[in-house]
Amino acid sequence: MPELTWVGKKLTQSEPASIVKDSILYPNGCGYPDTAPANRLILGDNLSLMTALLPEYEGQVHLIYADPPFFTNRKYPARIGRGEDSRKPAVWKLAEGYHDHWDNLDSYLDFLYQRLTLMYRLLSPNGTLYLHLDWHADAYARLLLDEIFGADHLLNEIIWAYHGPSPIRRAFNRKHDTILAYVKAEDYTFNVDAVREPYNQNTVKTFNSSPKAGFGKMPDLARGKVPEDWWYFPVIARLHNERTGYPTQKPVALLERIVLASSNPGDLVADFFCGSGTTPFVAIRHGRRYLACDETYRAIHTTRNRLIDSEVAFSLEHDSRFLVPVLPAPKTTKVRVQNETVVLETNLELDYWEIDPNWDGVTFKSAAQASRPLRNGRIPSELKIKAGSNLCVRLVTSQGKLFQLNV
Ligand SMILES: C[S@@+](CC[C@H](N)C(=O)[O-])C[C@H]1O[C@@H](n2cnc3c(N)ncnc32)[C@H](O)[C@@H]1O
Repeated sequence: MPELTWVGKKLTQSEPASIVKDSILYPNGCGYPDTAPANRLILGDNLSLMTALLPEYEGQVHLIYADPPFFTNRKYPARIGRGEDSRKPAVWKLAEGYHDHWDNLDSYLDFLYQRLTLMYRLLSPNGTLYLHLDWHADAYARLLLDEIFGADHLLNEIIWAYHGPSPIRRAFNRKHDTILAYVKAEDYTFNVDAVREPYNQNTVKTFNSSPKAGFGKMPDLARGKVPEDWWYFPVIARLHNERTGYPTQKPVALLERIVLASSNPGDLVADFFCGSGTTPFVAIRHGRRYLACDETYRAIHTTRNRLIDSEVAFSLEHDSRFLVPVLPAPKTTKVRVQNETVVLETNLELDYWEIDPNWDGVTFKSAAQASRPLRNGRIPSELKIKAGSNLCVRLVTSQGKLFQLNV
């Protein structure tokens, strides 16, 4: 069997991360469960995070969606501030997003190889891995996955097609990504009825007028068809309502198709390159549990802002080497408590704030949260809580600084 090789190719054992639990979030009054929430959002390098998660999750993850850097050698800034509405680019501010920079192809392949091997180990026997890349590295990745899973375990090579402007004048416009889906074994999960789509109007018309059109085979027009392995979904630039400002955010519709097809309610879905959090957002919308990791605080912060719209508790954790400093809030920031309402006054440009009514000095139990709306409007300056004995407020600015105020 052909195998991809490069200088220094070798599987190495990474040092496991030491994972610290910062906070547990209980959005929209979802209440304090007795046990730690199954849903985890973790800041750190996924190599050491996955190594640390292996003892608990080896063979336990039903679906992994991986959307790593594509080997583009570009920087991807995030858009922040008051003007993330993509129809008003003049009011965008830029902040650091993530880097897709490599010394050479060898170092990129090494990065992928180590991580894909760990994902394989985490995947359950009936699980599926979807690896999302584009023309820069998809051909190499296919060989890596053939080696790790076995070439006959390729389920699909999916083409996600989209459109949009491009400066290219001496080649065809590059407007598709490739998603490689690999399964571990024959009895993999695939819920075909959950992802059927309507036949197009011409097909329906043809069959209704001539039942012999399909050479005697009449499709079940009402049930819909199994989608092809090429998909069209508009990119986020065109989906104003979904746009978080985090770079290379993927559409909810794309992840919905993957999650619905390859997992069941209650299953564990993981995304170790979660970016703006599209995968965990879709996972809870459809009753799945999730593990989500990223190495940038902006990604974790953006994901948290999306997840507090749910009624599902989750923990926010970090590798101890990725500590985010908690600064004392400036004197101009004040909090008043009136009955069961906490009123915040601040001149910080806030993206997010939250309250722990009974701060124990160790794990922040966030009982109420507010975030700045994605499009228009202001972040709420009041939150309702049940009174506690040691009120503590945490605030995150749009620049990503974290402040704390003990009341
Ligand atoms: C293509 S983006 C993911 C976008 C995401 N699918 C979404 O819908 O928003 C890739 C992400 O991988 C993260 N990343 C890159 N290297 C990483 C690593 N070693 N560990 C954890 N995250 C990493 C980057 O910070 C970035 O957020």
